[in-house]
Amino acid sequence: MVTVLAIETSCDETAVAIVNDREVLSSVVSSQIAAHQPYGGIVPEVASRQHVEIVNAAIAQALQEAALDWNAIDGIAATCAPGLVGALLVGLTTAKTLALLHQKPLIGVHHLEGHIYASYLTATDLQPPFLCLLVSGGHTSLIYVKDCGYYETLGQTRDDAVGEAFDKVARLMHLGYPGGPVIDRLAQQGNPKAFSLPEGQVSLTNGGFHRYDSSFSGLKTAVLRLTQKLEQETETLPINDIAASFQATVAKALTKRAIACALDYGLTTIAVGGGVAANSGLRQHLQAAAQPYNLRVLFPPLQFCTDNAAMIACAAADHLNRGHTSPLTLGAQSRMAIADVMQLYIHM
Ligand code: KG4
Ligand code: ZN
Repeated sequence: MVTVLAIETSCDETAVAIVNDREVLSSVVSSQIAAHQPYGGIVPEVASRQHVEIVNAAIAQALQEAALDWNAIDGIAATCAPGLVGALLVGLTTAKTLALLHQKPLIGVHHLEGHIYASYLTATDLQPPFLCLLVSGGHTSLIYVKDCGYYETLGQTRDDAVGEAFDKVARLMHLGYPGGPVIDRLAQQGNPKAFSLPEGQVSLTNGGFHRYDSSFSGLKTAVLRLTQKLEQETETLPINDIAASFQATVAKALTKRAIACALDYGLTTIAVGGGVAANSGLRQHLQAAAQPYNLRVLFPPLQFCTDNAAMIACAAADHLNRGHTSPLTLGAQSRMAIADVMQLYIHM
């Protein structure tokens, strides 16, 4: 059993958490949404500056809420890839400094591995192998979780990530940023069958379809065309019905691929992670569709779906328990395949 303090600054949340293996002792998340809202999206430079201003206070708060001091911490972790490099550097440099100062091991964590570990925080009996459906603002992937540090991507989006599609559709309906939670709320008042939208299959060159890959840019364009047409025909746009139809199409597309993939690979658990795992339409649709196949579907609680540091600390704790630590020369990387996670560690 190890106690790890982790810092997550890969995007627009400054988060610090302390966990003991899978038990969350404290989790502080400071959202920057208000700072980015005037720009309608995330501005990397603004994100880095906000992280610098907030990170020390968030660390102090996490220690205070857990009622621990540095003596009780076995390792210090930070997200080091993928993400906005300037933003990642703030958290990683802070973690390195603290590791050096307090003579603790450093554990760099891949952000997507963190999202996978969100499921371990509540399903404490969960063990690999299982399938992770990772749906966030930057990624839409089906990941075969073989063991701690060992992953294979079986499917991904060919264009927009699903969270990005939610954000773009919200923007074109003038609903503000971030779009996912707003669309989710409106969709609950709308008719999901009101409009028929394309699911966006990815063709193989030799006919047929990539079973696990997805595409959301065509769906986004279809919503744009539909909105433009309705704006000309009606005075008030039926935004609830558009949101519900869009959300149902996304839920169906993701569910179909996740279930086919789990069955093909003989995996009996689908753990969903990332901000879009908070989506009520996806939650309902996937749970219901998986039942006839006896597949176990896990959705983390909402606060662990969107970016947080508890999931990063949980992944780091598993690595530390196995003797995986990172060198102080570890760098931040904007892109990194999840298959390369073990490159972050010194093998002992
Ligand atoms: O995982 P996350 O917090 O950050 C990334 O690593 O990208 O995901 C953020 C994404 C945003 O695109 C946001 O619109 C989406 O998750 N999101 C949702 C919901 N809550 C957040 N999408 C659909 N329904 C939601 N309830
Ligand atoms: Zn994320």
